Amino acid sequence: MRTKIVAGNWKMNNDQTETITLIESLKNQGNFGSTRVIVAPSYVHLSQAVYLTTNSVIEVAAQNVHESTSGAYTGEVSPAMLCSVGIQTVILGHSERRAHFGESDVTLAKKVINALDHDMEIIFCFGEELEDRKFDNHFNVVKSQISNVLFELRASAWSKIVLAYEPVWAIGSGETASPEQAQEMHAFIRNLVRDKYDADLAEKVSILYGGSVKPANAQEIFSKQDVDGGLIGGAALSAADFTTIIKST
Ligand code: PGA
Repeated sequence: MRTKIVAGNWKMNNDQTETITLIESLKNQGNFGSTRVIVAPSYVHLSQAVYLTTNSVIEVAAQNVHESTSGAYTGEVSPAMLCSVGIQTVILGHSERRAHFGESDVTLAKKVINALDHDMEIIFCFGEELEDRKFDNHFNVVKSQISNVLFELRASAWSKIVLAYEPVWAIGSGETASPEQAQEMHAFIRNLVRDKYDADLAEKVSILYGGSVKPANAQEIFSKQDVDGGLIGGAALSAADFTTIIKST
């Protein structure tokens, strides 16, 4: 069975007090079963989040990492810095990073290599714009986003890769892909991986869905065969909502 994962991308939300409160509330929510639970606070709160989640099942991830190992990159954070405070997972390729910070497939490929060189796990995000879907180009877009960044990797590197399909039109919009649309795309993605590598690897990779997942729709989306959990934005800022979503796996 594939690992179920629910990850909360907090984006640029929560000050220190709110970060502590949210983590403590999550810790009090009891048993999450076998589902991996990950939260991604801002860089400045990562150390504290790691400290607060010691001896709990909650894992902490970063929202980004730089493509270089060190040097004159004002404002940036390297994989070694993240590892040194106990972070082993990083989200890369989020559509907001692509849209607002110009992260291209070329940059993302370098970030992936740099993170893997530090033995980090990557939650790799991709997804089409509304226009792409309207013109029936969504499969092509997703295929190129995945193949441009990940298909040069050796098969052994894939044990550190989690995929997150996030249609851009569904992020923060209140509009979700239907469970059928999500399943159709996730099956397509798994086939891509199967064709490039092999069936065993494709069966093992967890593919998360992201984009306006809420307590009310999580269960139906997660019930689909190739949907292995979710990457959650807005609803991850409420301990109660996030817990309901985790328990929907
Ligand atoms: P959302 O964000 O759940 O608020 O739509 C998802 C994401 O950006 O990962």
